[in-house]
Amino acid sequence: MEWLEDTEALHELLCWGLIAFGVASGILLLCSDLRAPYGRWFSSQQQAWWWGSASLPARAAWMTQELPALLFPLYMAASHSQQLQLQPDPRTCIAAAFLLHYTNRSLIYPLRLRGGKRTALTVWAMAALFCCCNGFLQGWCLLAHLPPGAAWAPHHVLGLGLWAAGCAANMHCDSLLRNLRQSTGDTGYKIPRGGLFEYVSAANYAAESLEWVGYAIACGTASLAPWAFVLATVCNLAPRARSHHAWYKQRFGAAYPASRRAFIPYVW
Ligand SMILES: NC(=O)c1ccc[n+]([C@@H]2O[C@H](COP(=O)([O-])OP(=O)(O)OC[C@H]3O[C@@H](n4cnc5c(N)ncnc54)[C@H](OP(=O)(O)O)[C@@H]3O)[C@@H](O)[C@H]2O)c1
Repeated sequence: MEWLEDTEALHELLCWGLIAFGVASGILLLCSDLRAPYGRWFSSQQQAWWWGSASLPARAAWMTQELPALLFPLYMAASHSQQLQLQPDPRTCIAAAFLLHYTNRSLIYPLRLRGGKRTALTVWAMAALFCCCNGFLQGWCLLAHLPPGAAWAPHHVLGLGLWAAGCAANMHCDSLLRNLRQSTGDTGYKIPRGGLFEYVSAANYAAESLEWVGYAIACGTASLAPWAFVLATVCNLAPRARSHHAWYKQRFGAAYPASRRAFIPYVW
């Protein structure tokens, strides 16, 4: 796979770009009132055109922004299909985990949304760029950095176990939120109950973070890409979890469970 070796420097550059973007945006979001305008934080009023007034419906935004993370690895795998062997080795299982998540996020999750608010065009563009970059990086990591036919090691089992727990919890949280609304026209908010929501306000984000930590552990130290992805994800989701938590407390007051934290059960 000569082309993969040729572009190793690009791979490394993109990884560090993702890390820099994640850390910078995490610090900015934690230290300011800035919230990416989609979902409950979307408002077309009093916003510069580049930060809210130009927008897309939630369903179209989720589908198109997340699809590159599914298509890039699939395209890369298809381009090297002659060298690939489908076998029950760690690499195949890790790739399947990544593709399963993005099949849900780009094709199934958007179709099941109920009453999702709009997404600002700028947020959509940043998310789509992130998914293009990340789809390419993870596809590369899986193809070029993880050895085919490797023997199973404890970090593969632990990582994939955490990934599966995080994935199941994330889907459960998504469905608990969806079921708070009666129909696609319902746009109201209620206090989420059950599952991980008993511990944290942003249970879907906490579960998703666990999912990607597990994925990175399963990939091991062969590549920087999965770790860059985890860092960027947590830096994006943790500040938003804090904002959601404050929003719930303000909106529901004393009715909101006092013991519930924002993102990490019992801690924060
Ligand atoms: N990997 C990443 O970097 C990344 C980044 C962002 C999101 N995600 C994942 O994508 C999924 C969706 O993220 P999100 O930011 O849209 O999550 P969210 O703000 O929790 O909203 C999820 C959906 O549930 C609805 N909803 C939320 N709270 C509700 C409540 N209390 N009552 C009724 N409906 C409620 C929202 O409607 P409204 O639109 O009307 O608010 C939206 O349709 C999550 O699983 C998340 O982990 C991943």
